[in-house]
Amino acid sequence: MNKDLRRAIIAGNWKMNKTPSEAAKLIEELKAAMPEPDCEVVVCVPAIDIPAVAEAIKGSDIRLGAQNVHFEASGAFTGEISASMLAEMGVEYVIVGHSERRQYFGETNETVNLRAKAAINAGLTPIICVGETLEQREQGITDDLVSMQTKIAFNGIEKEDAINCVIAYEPVWAIGTGKTATAEQANEVCQLIRDTIGVLYDDETADGISIQYGGSMNAKNCAELLAMEDIDGGLIGGASLKAPDFSVIIEAASK
Ligand code: PGA
Repeated sequence: MNKDLRRAIIAGNWKMNKTPSEAAKLIEELKAAMPEPDCEVVVCVPAIDIPAVAEAIKGSDIRLGAQNVHFEASGAFTGEISASMLAEMGVEYVIVGHSERRQYFGETNETVNLRAKAAINAGLTPIICVGETLEQREQGITDDLVSMQTKIAFNGIEKEDAINCVIAYEPVWAIGTGKTATAEQANEVCQLIRDTIGVLYDDETADGISIQYGGSMNAKNCAELLAMEDIDGGLIGGASLKAPDFSVIIEAASK
């Protein structure tokens, strides 16, 4: 199975939660609760928590991620953080184009592409988020929309960089709502994304790229979702803030 070619990646998206001291405490709880992982474990934390979390994860299997990155190297962009700033702090992954950033902060397919390229140039792995709203699903345009989001996100990214990117399929209607896509629904769109990557690049890239599912993944539903052929991990919001629940997800991905 091609799934065996890919390493599962379980990434927590803490969103705007936890002060630095609370963040360090959650990492300690997670280190105590989590099994030895046979998957990549990442925590994408608020920027202000990065130093505390970088210190707390030392010597563990947990990798550090950020939730956003600016596309310029430096300059007059008040409030923004560059890829090289993140890299210097030990950040290895960065979420790009999360639906909350698209919805509340004016992120577009084009800026998602620029941010992904900036991340790659600094040696970071972008976790590129795509996904449809409920309205778009009901209109029957999920496939067109997700494939367009994927194509624009990868515009100008070379094959050798593309295969190391991570894509997160996150149906917007499933984020933070407790409404998970069924394993079949989630797999169907992940497969479509993989096919799109195959068209943009080739079979080798499509078979090698990791595609996560995100949207109300939790300790109860993770095993079924993670067992699907085209789902290579998860981007987890709410459940990543509870060490025991996140540990169950890590365990399910390690099987
Ligand atoms: P959720 O969030 O797991 O709380 O639905 C997922 C995400 O937004 O990445």
